[in-house]
Amino acid sequence: MDMHPTDLIAPSKTLEVDALAKKLISEGKDVVNLTAGEPDFPTPRPIVEKAVEALEKGYTKYTDSNGLPALREAISKYLKAKKSIEFSADEIVVSNGGKQSLFNAFASILDSGDEVILFAPLWVSYPAQIILSRGQPVIVKTKFENGFMPTKDELLIAVRENTKAIVVNSPNNPSGGIYDYDTLKMIAQIANERGIFVITDEVYDDLVYEGTHKSMYGLVREELLIYINAFSKSHSMTGWRVGYAATKNKDVKKKMSKIQSHVASNINTIAQYAAIAACETDNTYMVEEFKKRRKFIIEKAREYGLDFLEPKGAFYLFFKVGDNDEEFCKRLLAEKLVAAVPGSAFEMPGFVRISFANSLNILEEGMSRIKEFMDSHA
Ligand SMILES: Cc1ncc(COP(=O)(O)O)c(C=O)c1O
Repeated sequence: MDMHPTDLIAPSKTLEVDALAKKLISEGKDVVNLTAGEPDFPTPRPIVEKAVEALEKGYTKYTDSNGLPALREAISKYLKAKKSIEFSADEIVVSNGGKQSLFNAFASILDSGDEVILFAPLWVSYPAQIILSRGQPVIVKTKFENGFMPTKDELLIAVRENTKAIVVNSPNNPSGGIYDYDTLKMIAQIANERGIFVITDEVYDDLVYEGTHKSMYGLVREELLIYINAFSKSHSMTGWRVGYAATKNKDVKKKMSKIQSHVASNINTIAQYAAIAACETDNTYMVEEFKKRRKFIIEKAREYGLDFLEPKGAFYLFFKVGDNDEEFCKRLLAEKLVAAVPGSAFEMPGFVRISFANSLNILEEGMSRIKEFMDSHA
């Protein structure tokens, strides 16, 4: 008997470590939790106020399952003004975070046995979502020496007849890397020549500290591009669950809409009103604060002799720990009460991810405990 797709996937490892750290905290332990995949800032006031206003006005009913037309219009304008990316409101489907947008995209394009190329280190949910959509993840392991960017040869070896899509995630979780323009063009060229979809996950595109982020938009043939973004990381709105997928491919758009309507209907109506305000809310103060933390963590990591690439975007430091990253994280938590995520969770064993979406005090304490831990095992 065939296995059911859910038998082939494990619960999200990043959420697992986070849950363990939270359990220890609830027991009163002095845990420094560096697993966070979310900004620690409160959601900006104008966004919260818009939600309160929506509640008071009684905007508590179902909406268009693609998302409120006013929200999709606002996203369309915001993408154009801020990122020079042009999608009309009709080309956008709003979902429960970037996560559901990605799932809707995979479920729309994959047939049984279709392959999707992923570049490791990779975000934990891609393989599971592909498997749930009855596709097959094909993981291309990128190299630390290449800044965790794929080379043309590495990509070409993985492309086969039933390759249906390539996922690009830049700025990258967990490496913090930003793909250079040549790499993006190389991927786009291969996809364009062979008619392969590109799903571009740009949820960290606002959080850039060095160089510039370039979108896959404009490089990939428009009928092959599925663009994913969300307000979660950019506007400190992780719990509100507002993300979106956009494509000019009418067939794919129609399929994503159908899935959204049957799986979830619209996302939370109040959160949609909040997201309209997010489109007009400046988030540069958060980026400035992240810059300071990044500088601090890079300096400490250098001082402690860690082996890492300077993160250019997102809010993670991904450093080498030798062979057994899972053991490293378990012992770090047990001995020093510091929670970090093993690279294995991202298909890149031998590394550990820590998040700098924490105050400087917390980062200072966390880094000094990591240093003590490494000294005691040197
Ligand atoms: C690379 C990447 N894509 C997508 C998401 C999903 O974000 P959301 O909270 O909007 O579902 C995350 C969240 O951790 C992420 O790191």
